[in-house]
Amino acid sequence: MENNRQNSTNINWYPGHMAKTRRLIAEKYPLIDIVYEIVDARIPFSSKIKDIYSLIGNKPKILIMTKKDLCDVKATSEWVKYYENLGSKVLLVDLEHGNDVDEIVRVTHELMADLQEKRNTRGLKNKEIRALVIGIPNVGKSTLINKMCKRKVARVGNLPGVTQSLSWLRTRSDILLLDTPGILWPKLDQGDVALNLAAFTAIKEEILPVDEVAVYILKQLSEYYPEKLFENYGVRKVTDENVLEVYETIARQIGAMKHGEVDYEKVSLKVVNDIKAERITGITFDRK
Ligand code: G4P
Repeated sequence: MENNRQNSTNINWYPGHMAKTRRLIAEKYPLIDIVYEIVDARIPFSSKIKDIYSLIGNKPKILIMTKKDLCDVKATSEWVKYYENLGSKVLLVDLEHGNDVDEIVRVTHELMADLQEKRNTRGLKNKEIRALVIGIPNVGKSTLINKMCKRKVARVGNLPGVTQSLSWLRTRSDILLLDTPGILWPKLDQGDVALNLAAFTAIKEEILPVDEVAVYILKQLSEYYPEKLFENYGVRKVTDENVLEVYETIARQIGAMKHGEVDYEKVSLKVVNDIKAERITGITFDRK
C-alpha cells in the first residue's frame, strides 16, 4: 500500500517535468549570479527541492524561509541554525507584513560585493544582479517577486504541465529576478515529507487522502501543540487508539453528525482547511 502510493506520487511529479525544468535552468545558468531558494518556514525541510545542488551547482544562494508569521519561530529557528551550520545563508521572513524584502536585498548585495569589487577593479561598473527564484509550488515565490517588483506580476506554472515563459523581471533595487522555470519537485520519498506538504501546501489533492492528512495534523498538534489542539477542537490528546472518539468530539462541535453517525470526511476537511485557511498559526511540523 505504502509503496504503491509513493510510486504513483513520484510518477505525478517526476519524469517529463524534471527533464524540462533541468533544461530550462541549464539554459539560464550562465547568467545567474545568485539563487533564492524559497521554503515554507513551517516545513523548512519538507518544502525543500530535491537535489537542488544538481540544478544550481555552487552558485551563491540565500535560503529564504517564508511565512515567518505563520510558523513556530522557536522550532523553525532550529532549522535556521542547522542550515547555517551547513554553510547556507538563511533568512526567515514574513512576506505579507512589513519590509523583510529589504533584508533580502541587503544580503544579496552583501553576497555580491566581491563580484562587484572585481568588476570595479577592472574599470567596470556594478552589474545588475540576476537572481533565480526557485522553490516548490506555494512557498511564496510570486509573493516575493511581487514585493520586490512592487507590482503584480502574473505567473502561471503552479501546476505540473503548465509551462511559463522565461523573462527577467526588473525590481526596484538593481536586481533582476527569474521565476522558477517549470515545476520543481520535493523530496516525497523521505519520512513525513508528503504528509507535511499535504498539510501545508496546495498540492495535497495530488498526494494523499484527506483523512490521512487530517489524522496526521491532529497527531502533530497533539504532540507539539496540545494547547492549540484543545483550543481549536476541545481535545487534549490524539492517539491511534482514540482517533475515532476525537472525530466524534469534533463532529459534534461542527455539526458533522448525520443520523447519529460521524461524517468523517467533513471532519477531515475541517481540520485540513483550518490549516489551509491559516486559522491555526504558530506551528512548525518539521522538527529538528
Ligand atoms: P508560489 O508562487 O511559490 O506558488 O506561492 P505564492 O506566492 O502564490 O504564495 C502562496 C500563498 O502563500 C499565498 O496565499 C501567499 O499570499 C502566501 N504567502 C506567501 N508568503 C507569505 C508569508 O510570508 N506569510 C503569509 N502569511 N503568507 C504568505 P494564497 O492564499 O494562496 O494566495 P493569496 O490569495 O493570498 O494571494
